[in-house]
Amino acid sequence: VAAPRIAIASAGRLFGGRLVVFPGGDIVKAVRGVVLSAFPGCDTRGCQGRWGFNARVKDEASMLEKCNRKNLPLTPESALKKIRDAIGIRIVCGFIDDIYQTIDIIRGLEGCKIILEKDYILSAKPNGYRSYHLILEVETPYEDCLGNQPGSYFVEVQLRTIAMDSWASLEHQMKYKHEIKDTKRIVRELKRCADELASCDVTMQTIRNLIRESE
Ligand code: GTP
Ligand code: MG
Repeated sequence: VAAPRIAIASAGRLFGGRLVVFPGGDIVKAVRGVVLSAFPGCDTRGCQGRWGFNARVKDEASMLEKCNRKNLPLTPESALKKIRDAIGIRIVCGFIDDIYQTIDIIRGLEGCKIILEKDYILSAKPNGYRSYHLILEVETPYEDCLGNQPGSYFVEVQLRTIAMDSWASLEHQMKYKHEIKDTKRIVRELKRCADELASCDVTMQTIRNLIRESE
C-alpha cells in the first residue's frame, strides 16, 4: 500500500513587508486529511475516544515578537527556516496508544520528514508538562523562501491526550494571565495534578485494552 502523499496548493503571505509564498493553510489541510482518513469515523468533533485536530498559523505580530526574542533578523528566512513553528498542529487523542499510532502514520508519509521528536510523555518536563512534539519538514511543489524548488516548510505537531491538553491549557493560562504570589505551592500542586492525570491516562488505556480483549 502506497503511503498517502501530501498534496499542497500555494498561498501568498506577507512577512516583514515582503510577499513570501507560504502555503500554511494548505499544509494544515493536507496533514489533517491524511491523519483523519487513517482513523475511519473520526472528524474534528471527535469519534470513539474523542479526537481534536487544531491548527494555527503564527500571525505576523507573534512571529516578529519571536524573531526579536531569539535575536534573529526580521526576514522570511528567520520566520520560516530558523523558527520552525510558523505552522502548528495540535492533535488531541482519547488514549495514549492513539498518539503513538498517529505518529506511525505520520512517519509513513511520503514527502514529509520528521526532523525532530521530543517525547515529553516518557520524559515529562519538570513542571509536569506532557505531550509528544514533532517537527516535520513538508515538501511542497512550490518555491520556498530560500528559492528551493520544490520548497519545504516546517510544521510543529503536538500530540496529547485530553487530560494532557486540559492541564497544558490551564497551566498556560495561569502562567501568562496572573501575577503569582505563592509560586512554590502552585508549582508543586500543578506538578502533582499532572502526575495524577498521567496515572488516569494509563488507567483509561488499560480499561480500553480490557474491553477490546473481552469483545
Ligand atoms: P519554543 O521556542 O517556544 O518553540 O520552545 P522549544 O523550542 O523549547 O520547544 P518545545 O518543544 O519545548 O515547546 C514547543 C511548544 O510546546 C511551546 O510553544 C508550547 O506550546 C508547548 N509547551 C512546551 N512546554 C510547555 C509547558 O511547560 N507548558 C505548556 N502549557 N506548554 C508547553
Ligand atoms: Mg514553539
